[in-house]
Amino acid sequence: MEYRNLGRSGLEVSIVGIGCNNFGRRMDYAATEAVVGMAVDVGINFFDTADSYGGEGRSEQFLGRALKGKRHEIVVATKFASPMGEGPMRSGASRRYILQAVEDSLRRLDTDYIDLYQVHFPDPKTPLEETVRTLDDLVTSGKVRYVGNSNFAGWQIATAAKIAEHEHLEPFVTAQNQYSLLDRRIEQEVVPACEAFGLGILPYFPLASGLLTGKYHRGQPAPEGTRLAAWPMGERMLTDQNFNVVEKLDEFAQRHERSILDLAIGWLASKSSIGSVIAGATKIEQVEANAKAAAWRLSAEEMAEVDALTKR
Ligand SMILES: NC(=O)c1ccc[n+]([C@@H]2O[C@H](COP(=O)([O-])OP(=O)(O)OC[C@H]3O[C@@H](n4cnc5c(N)ncnc54)[C@H](OP(=O)(O)O)[C@@H]3O)[C@@H](O)[C@H]2O)c1
Repeated sequence: MEYRNLGRSGLEVSIVGIGCNNFGRRMDYAATEAVVGMAVDVGINFFDTADSYGGEGRSEQFLGRALKGKRHEIVVATKFASPMGEGPMRSGASRRYILQAVEDSLRRLDTDYIDLYQVHFPDPKTPLEETVRTLDDLVTSGKVRYVGNSNFAGWQIATAAKIAEHEHLEPFVTAQNQYSLLDRRIEQEVVPACEAFGLGILPYFPLASGLLTGKYHRGQPAPEGTRLAAWPMGERMLTDQNFNVVEKLDEFAQRHERSILDLAIGWLASKSSIGSVIAGATKIEQVEANAKAAAWRLSAEEMAEVDALTKR
């Protein structure tokens, strides 16, 4: 397993991480414990959760419980800002809300500190300086080690970096955004902003919810028990447009004696701006396969060929 520093920070994480949004919703505690245990066994040290995952904080609770006795070896990332209930002060990125949300996450995770605390979504009602300053206070107090953002636009990443620089506050070290072979929109503005200001990218939906694993096929319903069968809107991803790209990528991977899963993870891992590929997993076999997939580093020629195949 390769370990990489997150952005311009000293924090080293495994190039494949575990996304924890299945914990507490599609996965019960026993399944969560099995996935976390296998992840640690194969050298994964990075887990990405959020207060809102699993409903009523269950993903954080399950993760904290599954990490008992292992916490010191692990990098735990969580998030705040998504609605945790109705009404004001149950969401967002204000000083008032963050100081409450961090205590709630620490309690659910049953830990004294959060390694990476991320703003889940931009909060247009709160000045960015208020958020950056409050997160800086949390780092100073020791409750949080590093801070990151998620779903920020390129200009928001740049503005936050400038605020941190001018005010001598902790900068965001990561940006978490949707990024995969099927969704390359962040390459327009977010990736250049991250490269300019030294943030590591945490690509979410790196497997396009499983569409890039080879288990879904054109013209066939989603196999029983899979995410796209369970999600009411899942079938909407099984479009001809997506399969046109998936089938070409599958053929490319086979030509290199690899799988499309190897390509989905290896392609991201081949980019130096990527911090960790936080793939979700519901089974221990998936964890093993995802960890192995990170071994592929594509050559410049192979990256160019993939660019041509994924052009929309
Ligand atoms: N910041 C944000 O706004 C945001 C939004 C979404 C997600 N995220 C984060 O990003 C993480 C990753 O996203 P994601 O988990 O939603 O999507 P994903 O990684 O694209 O897909 C995960 C799904 O792919 C399937 N899968 C994984 N490995 C597989 C394998 N080796 N073979 C076959 N199927 C495999 C599993 O589906 P089955 O369920 O079918 O087994 C799993 O649930 C999340 O867990 C979360 O931490 C963040």
